[in-house]
Amino acid sequence: MTDQPVPASELYTDEFAANPYPSFARLRADAPVCPVSSPRFDQYLITRYDDARAALVDPRLSKDLYGPEQYYLKIFGPNSEALNRNMLNADPPEHTRLRRMISQAFAPRRIEALRPRVAQIVDDLLDKIVPRGESDLMRDFAIPLPMIVISELLGIPPADHDRVLDWTQVIRTSGSSRRSPQEERAAVQEAQLRLHHYLAGLVAAKREQPADDIVSALIDACDQEGKLSEAELVTTTFLLLFAGHQTTADFLGNAVVALLTHPDQLDLLRDRPELLPSAVEELLRFDGPLPVASPRIATEDLEYQGRRIPAGSLVGVVINAANHDPGHFVDPDRLDLRRVRGPHLGFGYGVHYCLGVSLARMEARIGIGALLRRLPGLRLGVPVDELRRLPAASPFRGLLELPVTFTA
Ligand code: HEM
Repeated sequence: MTDQPVPASELYTDEFAANPYPSFARLRADAPVCPVSSPRFDQYLITRYDDARAALVDPRLSKDLYGPEQYYLKIFGPNSEALNRNMLNADPPEHTRLRRMISQAFAPRRIEALRPRVAQIVDDLLDKIVPRGESDLMRDFAIPLPMIVISELLGIPPADHDRVLDWTQVIRTSGSSRRSPQEERAAVQEAQLRLHHYLAGLVAAKREQPADDIVSALIDACDQEGKLSEAELVTTTFLLLFAGHQTTADFLGNAVVALLTHPDQLDLLRDRPELLPSAVEELLRFDGPLPVASPRIATEDLEYQGRRIPAGSLVGVVINAANHDPGHFVDPDRLDLRRVRGPHLGFGYGVHYCLGVSLARMEARIGIGALLRRLPGLRLGVPVDELRRLPAASPFRGLLELPVTFTA
């Protein structure tokens, strides 16, 4: 087992961006708790399933980035508080208070009521794609679907969707342009500033004219009961907006690629659409959009797999490595839509378990089902190894473009 940090140049290669699973397998077998220096920040990676699950509920691993130690500086940089000081970066009891404010809105019953509208958005998007015979499914489907859904839930007016999307895409695709790292950072900061300004304005507008949406409901809770500060209104809205669309978008893209490169499984799902719920879980296990859970901080010296993680270290739980652990999943690198043994960690575990899980599942089931029904002869428009992906060191696993063709 290595004591030396794995250098970024060894792990975050182009091959890794295309297929990180062989590297994850090596780490799982030889260095299941391993310091890695990444272009973003150094952290210990945990790659085995049992350790990952234990770490996600370990109270000695804090998520409070905005405490006195100011860990956020390493991860998000200065001035990040205005958007990122939200429940995902907090510990109980702060986390509990912030999550409780919003959990009702994402309860399964509430989400079920959105089903007809989600189906309508899917159909509207596909109506535009179907006659063309080809598409970039990221641009035309995977990104707009969750973006429209979460924007409508939050109450972002349709006229603003495009510019909000532009700003969130600068954040999502950071590191993938030919710009220098400095220019890249400046572009992200600019997008964050604009997004913050926009969301603060949205909150002000909703306070003037409340409507039936989540931002208005949060304002009500804030004004009536003082349970949420003005700043928290904005950070919560940002988290819902960002978490609510970019993971789902990347997941839809990854899922389509997995199906198109496993024709037997694609045929199976076409023949048996009732498998969609288990298929979505398996696709998420197979190639999820959040390879590493957001960083945790060791509040004391810890030991995992006999290896010391010193107090103050950042710790990354590698969800996509844990989800391919042969100690937990039989033949883990095989896509098997009928797989029943689980559960996978694709939506996390513990108190930060994905708040939007019901919505994500609904969008994925309706979206993938409709794609297969309405795009006969669907195939990749370029060889799989030529797909343009987010960079290896991105916190997200997803595609920049997904060119496909089908029978118009
Ligand atoms: C396929 C799509 C999605 C995936 C794979 C996913 C995955 C995750 C994961 C792994 C976490 C835990 C992160 C951690 O512990 O570090 C998380 C948290 C979260 N997700 Fe999702 N998510 C998805 C869609 C959504 C949607 C549609 C929403 C809607 C708003 C959402 C909202 C959130 C929020 C608010 C949190 C933070 C919860 C907390 O800190 O208590 N997610 N998600």
